[in-house]
Amino acid sequence: MAIVNRFEEVNPRRRRYGGRDVGKARTIDDLRCMARRRLPNFLYEYIEGGAEDEWTLRNNRAAFHRYRFLPHALRDVSRRTTEHPIFGRPSALPLVIAPTGFAGFFWPDGDMMLAKAAAAAGVPMAQSTVSNARVRDVAAVAGLRHWAQFYAWGGLEVQDALLDRAAAAGSEALVVTVDGPLSGNREWDQRSYAAPDRPSAATLFEAAWHPRWWLRMLARRRLPNFENLVDLIGATNPDIFAVSKWIGANQNPALCWRDLERIRARWPRRLVIKGLLRAEDALRAAGLGADAIVLSNHGGRQAEPAASPLETLPDVRAAVGDRLSLFLDSGVRRGSDIAMALALGADGVLVGRATLYGLAAGGEAGVGRALEILRTEFDRVLALVGATRPAELDRNLLLPAAQA
Ligand SMILES: Cc1cc2nc3c(=O)[nH]c(=O)nc-3n(C[C@H](O)[C@H](O)[C@H](O)COP(=O)(O)O)c2cc1C
Repeated sequence: MAIVNRFEEVNPRRRRYGGRDVGKARTIDDLRCMARRRLPNFLYEYIEGGAEDEWTLRNNRAAFHRYRFLPHALRDVSRRTTEHPIFGRPSALPLVIAPTGFAGFFWPDGDMMLAKAAAAAGVPMAQSTVSNARVRDVAAVAGLRHWAQFYAWGGLEVQDALLDRAAAAGSEALVVTVDGPLSGNREWDQRSYAAPDRPSAATLFEAAWHPRWWLRMLARRRLPNFENLVDLIGATNPDIFAVSKWIGANQNPALCWRDLERIRARWPRRLVIKGLLRAEDALRAAGLGADAIVLSNHGGRQAEPAASPLETLPDVRAAVGDRLSLFLDSGVRRGSDIAMALALGADGVLVGRATLYGLAAGGEAGVGRALEILRTEFDRVLALVGATRPAELDRNLLLPAAQA
């Protein structure tokens, strides 16, 4: 990450905050330091790592450094708003919490903590198929705009049950993730395990040095499970390892556009396709009636090395025009990243790790802090580039760094 974190070169005595008070975290990177200290390494590695040599992961951040703002001066920016419509309804920020699995291991009831913080901050949250809470419980969080993420795993009975549950829970949108015909090759994550269902001795030894994490988990009395799959896989009371094994055997490398048409026909509300990078795929998504796509390389966790969504965004926007909403994720850590994505044509961003760092650092308060940091930074960037609202961000504000 040398390309991003050069703070120490300016002054070697600089230190990020890694203590226990989320209120003292100034940046998402502070929350990341806190998460690293609080979590057993195998869990931190699961959040942090990318596939293989992690070129994609690094490039996701580097892509945001290939542009510079060219601010407008002397515009009255004293009255600003960060509010922006998502699917025609106001959102406090052009931001959605991305679907992420295993949240219940980072903090007890982690999915509920993400949902409550999202509702309090006035932004939507997408709940993963492999979350550790039931869709209906998370969707019931007061004031939450709930999106349900969907992996088309297993047979049609399993898929239809997942779709019907999300519909019954009142989810505003279904997010179909399509960049995982197989799991990415996350070798650093794999090293934590002696077998797919067995942490290594070194992993357990290291985890023993995190007593506070153990106490929080033990207070819950049982290991988190994949609550949305547990009753669908045809086993009696399967534990998380049994469900993981089922997932491994039931991924769907055959998934194709025909399946998306079927999902479109069955799903009654907003349909979002997540994990596209190509303009022709975005056009095809628009053609089948998707309401939005998320340009994403899954935070560098799948194809390696893959293009960064920020790199493909201008071409995709040019191809699809206004036919659907265009979101982007992978690498968003700053308010300026949100501004840059909007200036290049996105309607909003998703954040995965940024809010997970907050969750691991301090539960709901930590997620709230992450969202507050991003909101404050985004608001400041608006002012500094001469804009009063997100809709004023456009391509004219950016200079490609190579020409700077
Ligand atoms: C720990 C972790 C778990 C994830 N689980 C899922 C998931 O279950 N479903 C999904 O569609 N994407 C999943 N993702 C990908 C995120 O939705 C999102 O695309 C990615 O995190 C964006 O990159 P960022 O972390 O740099 O913000 C996961 C990402 C992380 C970091």
